[in-house]
Amino acid sequence: MRNPSCLAIILAAGDSTRMKSRRSKVLHPVAGRPMIVHVLEAISEAGVSEAALVVGRDADAIGAATAGTNVQVETFLQSERLGTAHAVLAARTALERGYDEILVTYGDVPLITGATLRAARTALADGSGVAVIGFEAANPTGYGRLMVKDGELLAIREEKDATDEERRIRRCNSGIMAISGRHAIELIAQVNNDNAKGEYYLTDIVEIARARGIATSVVDADENELAGCNNRQDLAAVERFWQERRRRELMLSGVSLIAPETVFLCHDTVIEPDVTVEPNVVFGPGVRVETGAVIGAFSHLEGAHVSADAHVGPYARLRPGSRLARDSKVGNFCEIKNATIGEGTKVNHLSYIGDAQIGSGTNIGAGTITCNYDGMNKNLTTIGSRAFIGSNASLVAPLNIGDGVIVAAGSTITADVPSNALAFGRARQETKPERANTVRKTSRA
Ligand code: UD1
Ligand code: CA
Repeated sequence: MRNPSCLAIILAAGDSTRMKSRRSKVLHPVAGRPMIVHVLEAISEAGVSEAALVVGRDADAIGAATAGTNVQVETFLQSERLGTAHAVLAARTALERGYDEILVTYGDVPLITGATLRAARTALADGSGVAVIGFEAANPTGYGRLMVKDGELLAIREEKDATDEERRIRRCNSGIMAISGRHAIELIAQVNNDNAKGEYYLTDIVEIARARGIATSVVDADENELAGCNNRQDLAAVERFWQERRRRELMLSGVSLIAPETVFLCHDTVIEPDVTVEPNVVFGPGVRVETGAVIGAFSHLEGAHVSADAHVGPYARLRPGSRLARDSKVGNFCEIKNATIGEGTKVNHLSYIGDAQIGSGTNIGAGTITCNYDGMNKNLTTIGSRAFIGSNASLVAPLNIGDGVIVAAGSTITADVPSNALAFGRARQETKPERANTVRKTSRA
């Protein structure tokens, strides 16, 4: 059997007023990427490659945010917000191309998984004309209630139109549903706005379908997965659910998180099994940590590759372009940017290493600074293998320090140092016996 064709319609025309933001809420990030991109990712995981995105504002910015995903997105403007059925019909020209299945999702429900969307598609394959994703709400206030009898979905009643008895139902409509493409347009076209809100409710298609003998069903999912986002508090809750889910996945895959609730991951964070992450670590975008590495407490990583058995922190900051080879160590109060730290090399205390390449087995003393910026340009420092840079050295780039070099503590190094040389770049020490007493006598007088 051929794969059924499917169009996802993403509703995102809500005016976002409660976000009190200059931009559409679907552009706000969860785990470091826009909500709308999470939705597209789930759509893609459900095997769907085309989406119609219904927006009310920021069409260009939203369109731009969706570039680069696996889903081909066409944007439609719903200029008047007359309800969810009206919103779906804003994409009518896409619907009219004819698809076997239609998947309606919300741009502000970003944690929906590909697996749940797939389950709704499977319900269509099993004979439903409309398959609604539902959940058991801890507090159902505000949601449409699912009227289910003997396992069959009879209707969805919006809160404002429900009787007191119906409001006691806790099984609710997520708003996300799959609709048979064969029936979609005719069902939605039947919806009127004769209800408490005077809106065209997409939820009405359940009763319309049943009146025509078309089967309807519910696919249950977890409430947290279906959390929506109307204000900044919801946004923080959605972030928390995402973090909890990802931490759980990582721990089950073999990563030790000592205090998981204090570790913040990004959508693309990759951590291999047998890594230990201590408390209070923040991962920004683009981080990969290989097996056996330890990320010490209070470290902040972004755009960094930490190789096997390396040790970072506590209190380390790895900025974009940091590449730590096997067994290397970046210790407390060190900042690394666009730099390669070779195998077994140690940058243990209070250093700034930026725009640098350091070989293997080198020791960078406490307080060493690469002076990479001259006010105009960023310059490169290269340091060979098995070198020893004394404490509090300033390495003024561009600079080349060979293998096996020793740089004296406190040096300011401005010229290249060949392999195995000893370099001093500081005033020679002078010691005057008894002179301290003379100084004190003068001061007292
Ligand atoms: C809707 C459902 C309700 C469900 C709830 C889940 C209907 C009639 N009701 O209610 O059963 O429990 O979602 O959150 O469908 N949108 C548009 N254009 C519109 C109207 C809405 O794009 O004209 C978008 C919104 O941006 C939002 C989504 O559709 O992403 C849902 O709209 P919202 O107003 O939040 O629907 P509810 O009344 O909460
Ligand atoms: Ca809502």
